[in-house]
Amino acid sequence: WAKFKGKDLLRVDEFSGEELMQLLELAAHIKKLQKNGQPYQPLQGKTLGMIFDKSSTRTRVSFEVGMYQLGGMAMFLSGKELQLGRGEPISDTAKVMSRYVDAIMIRTFSHAGVEELAEHASIPIINGLTDDFHPCQALADMLTIWEHKGKLKGIKLAYVGDGNNVANSLVLAAVLLGMDVRVATPPGYEMNAAIVEQAKGYAQANGGKLLVTHDPVEAVKDADAVYTDVWTSMGFEAENEQRLQAFAAYQVNEKLVSHASPEYLFLHCLPAHRGEEVSAGVIDGANSVVFDQAENRLHAQKAVLAAVV
Ligand code: CP
Ligand code: NVA
Repeated sequence: WAKFKGKDLLRVDEFSGEELMQLLELAAHIKKLQKNGQPYQPLQGKTLGMIFDKSSTRTRVSFEVGMYQLGGMAMFLSGKELQLGRGEPISDTAKVMSRYVDAIMIRTFSHAGVEELAEHASIPIINGLTDDFHPCQALADMLTIWEHKGKLKGIKLAYVGDGNNVANSLVLAAVLLGMDVRVATPPGYEMNAAIVEQAKGYAQANGGKLLVTHDPVEAVKDADAVYTDVWTSMGFEAENEQRLQAFAAYQVNEKLVSHASPEYLFLHCLPAHRGEEVSAGVIDGANSVVFDQAENRLHAQKAVLAAVV
């Protein structure tokens, strides 16, 4: 794992497809050890600082529990209560924190702010969600699909909904791992065009495919996995009413998944809104793996921490 030491995880595509697969293998190994009750504690005496400017259940709890299980400890830091919230520069914060902790996990609005933190810190920075990316989620998603389908290459993955942070990271990871990815968003809510171009390049180099469309049925046709996320992400609450209308035809419900493979998996990063982006029947149905996905945040992040710290 020496080659991963000190690396940041700001976007999944800082890692090659092969490296992502190595992280997933480590995650699967760490998960197995835990299920067998065998301790794995490479981070004894190490500390993770966790800065949150947005709400969280899974990210906060899984990182804190994960550090403890790895033999280290994690510290919750509210962005508002840090001097950062009173205007202390990101660069000074990065330098000070680097003298105390061994890595930082940060969840905030601006991705550029996280890049600035990484630029000035001498320790690994892990992105726990920005407005643009959610790489830890994508790793857990890949682990979940791999466990349930036994492979990733060639798996047909449909994402239906907002072209947001979760979509960006999911699509980048999936094409790097050679998946056949289809994304359906409403007009006006497409993924960032530059990320789509990058993802197309990765798809070509890694044997994957990427289709972007406004037609959810086209995206879901014969899909092995169907993924959606909230229509209104954190920070976009003022647009909620407008989004409810724009996304109405993009709900993942029984009718839409009838176009998927009968063995399709339903995925959602959670938190979910039943009756909005997904029907209760689908998310609570037999094909849903959303709680495996949530659990896999823990295992995937332990792999990242063990590899980079
Ligand atoms: N999926 C996810 O990141 O959940 P939280 O917002 O609860 O951390
Ligand atoms: N897209 C959502 C994901 C939450 C985990 C948001 O940014 O709010």
